[in-house]
Amino acid sequence: MQNTEEKMRHLIDQADFSTQETERLLNLAEDISANMQAYSKKCEGKILATLFYEPSTRTRLSFESAMMRLGGGVIGVASADSSSAAKGESVADTIRMISCYADIAAMRHFKEGAPAVAANISSIPVINAGDGGHQHPTQTLTDLLTIKKCKGGFDNLTIGLCGDLKFGRTVHSLIKSLVRYEGIKFYFISPEELKVPDYIIDEIVRTSGCEYKEVNDMEDVMPELDILYMTRVQKERFFNEADYVRLKDSYILTLDKLKTAKEALAIMHPLPRVNEIAVEIDGDSRAMYFKQAQNGVYIRMALILALLGIENGILEEKHA
Ligand code: NCD
Repeated sequence: MQNTEEKMRHLIDQADFSTQETERLLNLAEDISANMQAYSKKCEGKILATLFYEPSTRTRLSFESAMMRLGGGVIGVASADSSSAAKGESVADTIRMISCYADIAAMRHFKEGAPAVAANISSIPVINAGDGGHQHPTQTLTDLLTIKKCKGGFDNLTIGLCGDLKFGRTVHSLIKSLVRYEGIKFYFISPEELKVPDYIIDEIVRTSGCEYKEVNDMEDVMPELDILYMTRVQKERFFNEADYVRLKDSYILTLDKLKTAKEALAIMHPLPRVNEIAVEIDGDSRAMYFKQAQNGVYIRMALILALLGIENGILEEKHA
């Protein structure tokens, strides 16, 4: 277990890591992807706890794969029903216990802010693996690694974010990260009901000075895009089934709609996809979403090493 005298680092929100820290983490992930063997014993004797109170395939399994590829062990809960949360245990009590069983924890929770509550009292590093419709910082690290690999960097990119921009936590975190770069232009492509929340527009996008435009139609902006980031309409966040049914097919990307797109467009999606990207696109050289999922393992390996202090010099020391 870590020395709690030092101010421990967690990853709850994109802003927890500076631009420099994020870039060092991306560089480490690139090194890991090129030299996997060199990292295969770095976490021997360490345990990751995955606490997932909402469904997940990629995030949980890529965290577990990451820890196992580092030579560490994994314990965890894969649903709220299979843990003491079902008996009414609080997040605070759970993390107190987990701090005794593991060296680091990744938590996904349906309540916005739950991982932040855990981090406040935890004696081990806590990673937010998605909290309600709020944030998903490790998906953003995965997205940034994918963008870095296919575009070489982040400045001067035109990015179309399409679909459920209201409830899509991956979108919220990605916006928060990309506003830090120069010459970014956003197209927010969504139906009226699923627009980017006002607090993100007012507090993050406007204050950054980034150019942005909210549009309904993806075809109108397609020729300008360097990145098209598609998202699933988040069924589980709707209060009303009828609204979901009305909005679920708002955007379906087909090869036909890509006719005017750039040759070098990167099509991204955090996955799972429902029907918003036609499978005919999977074989197109612009489809990056499966590579994106693969990058999730490398960046999570880098993150575990940085938060456990096994790779020094990635994160700054914070003093209490
Ligand atoms: C995303 C999530 O959980 O927010 N999935 C993921 O972690 N890769 C996106 C989604 O569920 O639509």
